[in-house]
Amino acid sequence: MAMDLFNKQVSAPSNIAILKYWGKSNGQFSLNPSLSFTLKHSKTFLDFTYEKRQDKEIIIQDFLFNGFAKESFKSKIEQKIKKYFNQRDIPFGCNIKINTSNTFPHSSGIASSASSMAALAKMFSMIYDTHDVHQQSSMAREFSGSACRSIQEGWCLWGETQDVLDSSQEHAILMNSSVHPDFHSLQDWIFVCSDQAKAVSSSDGHQLMNQHPFKDARVKNAHERLSHFLQLLEVTPSNTFFDLCEQEALELHALMMTSTPSVLLMEPESLLLIKKISKLRQRGIMCGFTLDAGSSVHLLFPKNQLPILKNLLDEEYFGTIKKDYIEIIQDECSLC
Ligand code: PMV
Repeated sequence: MAMDLFNKQVSAPSNIAILKYWGKSNGQFSLNPSLSFTLKHSKTFLDFTYEKRQDKEIIIQDFLFNGFAKESFKSKIEQKIKKYFNQRDIPFGCNIKINTSNTFPHSSGIASSASSMAALAKMFSMIYDTHDVHQQSSMAREFSGSACRSIQEGWCLWGETQDVLDSSQEHAILMNSSVHPDFHSLQDWIFVCSDQAKAVSSSDGHQLMNQHPFKDARVKNAHERLSHFLQLLEVTPSNTFFDLCEQEALELHALMMTSTPSVLLMEPESLLLIKKISKLRQRGIMCGFTLDAGSSVHLLFPKNQLPILKNLLDEEYFGTIKKDYIEIIQDECSLC
């Protein structure tokens, strides 16, 4: 019997966390709450066609990334789908063909798992006609933790905290209305410091927290830092906010460096940039950095600092080490 063929597209933004998810608890839940904003220009687009099956199997027939078959991505996705849907009842199975692309380069320090896994969750929500964003966020979390903060646009909190009434371990919630409008246009310039893929995947990285000697201290710090961040986000950006972003980023890398085995992801260029950014603050330019689990440095600043930072870029303030960068990606909060 001929089945109907449906052709659709979904997209999802990447996000950058100012409070990092690092370490898992009870499977796909986080050791500590995390807080991020989605990026306006760094996105995954996912085109798909599907036909319903008479049984309840989900078969990925084709998986293209940037127009090319990518077997390693396909099998990773098949595993995640199997794990998720094996435990759930679905109305029908389907044969799916996926064609996906990112607007940003691979290994650039922009979290492609967040945008791609959020796009995948949106795809299944479209197929199964489920429009609840929290349900989508929960599915995205099962595919990759940070992806749960990429379903809705803007500032998202994942994890339970007594500071926010409806906060949840299951899914991320939107924080836009509790965040000062100046943070809706926060800028994020990503200085790519290496063209190599990360030495340690984030899923291996999370594992390192299981036996980490500073695990309890980390969880306590993250909760206290979250309360502080929430207060600072209610008012216009301050140096205290950027100090806190930097402390958190360095704590993430300190945790990695003090793991067994130890993981060192920063490159010499990352450190040079960090120092340059601190000097900018001494010169009265409001900005700060954050780092993900990689060598790229994210320069964060309020939009009113854009002209002065563009000038510095033109004047080659970052010039002495510029040759070592592969790229500088100028992005901003999706709400901008
Ligand atoms: O979603 P995962 O498993 O790729 O973990 C991402 C972890 C960090 O990017 C380092 C931090 C975060 O909260 O996004």
